[in-house]
Amino acid sequence: MGKTYGSGLSHLFAMHEQMLSGSALGPIVMQQAGSLNKRDRTWLDLCCGCGALLAFARANGFQVTGVDAASGPLQQAKRIAPQAKLIRGDVAAVNLKNRFDIITCVGGSTNYLLRLNDLLRVLGHARRHLAEGGMFCFDVNTPHGYAINVDHPVSLVGDDHAGFFGVEYNARTQRAKWHVTGFVKSGRAYQRFDECHELRGYEMEQIDRLCERAGLSFERYDADTLAAADAETARLVYFCR
Ligand SMILES: C[S@@+](CC[C@H](N)C(=O)[O-])C[C@H]1O[C@@H](n2cnc3c(N)ncnc32)[C@H](O)[C@@H]1O
Repeated sequence: MGKTYGSGLSHLFAMHEQMLSGSALGPIVMQQAGSLNKRDRTWLDLCCGCGALLAFARANGFQVTGVDAASGPLQQAKRIAPQAKLIRGDVAAVNLKNRFDIITCVGGSTNYLLRLNDLLRVLGHARRHLAEGGMFCFDVNTPHGYAINVDHPVSLVGDDHAGFFGVEYNARTQRAKWHVTGFVKSGRAYQRFDECHELRGYEMEQIDRLCERAGLSFERYDADTLAAADAETARLVYFCR
């Protein structure tokens, strides 16, 4: 797996949820899942990060469970989704007793899985953890999505933090490096952090094949427009059953 989040970047994620996090997909996921006519509806968020989607799901009446490999984001998740069951672990090895009505893995988390086999395992685990009639939604950044960001560094500045992001992308290996330097207020001073996240862009055809191998039937769209995906698509969203 690539480097998981340090607490510095998870802080920026929490502050800029709308821009950075996949939690904005929450209402769309619910709409796609359709009516779940049962009392105890359950939602599993894989790579839950700081818990924004867990908080959304809980506010919509779900029993929520989140899995993430990193402790910094899980600490934030505990604060904003206190009723969630939180599990620290690798999503490529997740094995829970329960089945879930909705499973999500969003915010570009699948791109942290650098090996096709690990991504295939995550898709297989998700299928096995789905309750009857349930839905699994994940998003994934494409190689094009990383390539277009190379010349467009992003900065995020607020009263108590600032973050600067630069992307390196290697088209041959499909690997991206996401360099982040941030400053987070700590008392009167700002604490600096530097992180480098290694990610892999995935082509639509690769993901389609993996879904088929994992036994998932799916619909997929451009995640930003929810229209049919094309060569310009930077991020795909899959709704699987
Ligand atoms: C880009 S963040 C997205 C977080 C959240 N889903 C959101 O949309 O805000 C990616 C998250 O995936 C987690 N992660 C990456 N690889 C993982 C793995 N193999 N197992 C569990 N968590 C992982 C990181 O720790 C991080 O919290």
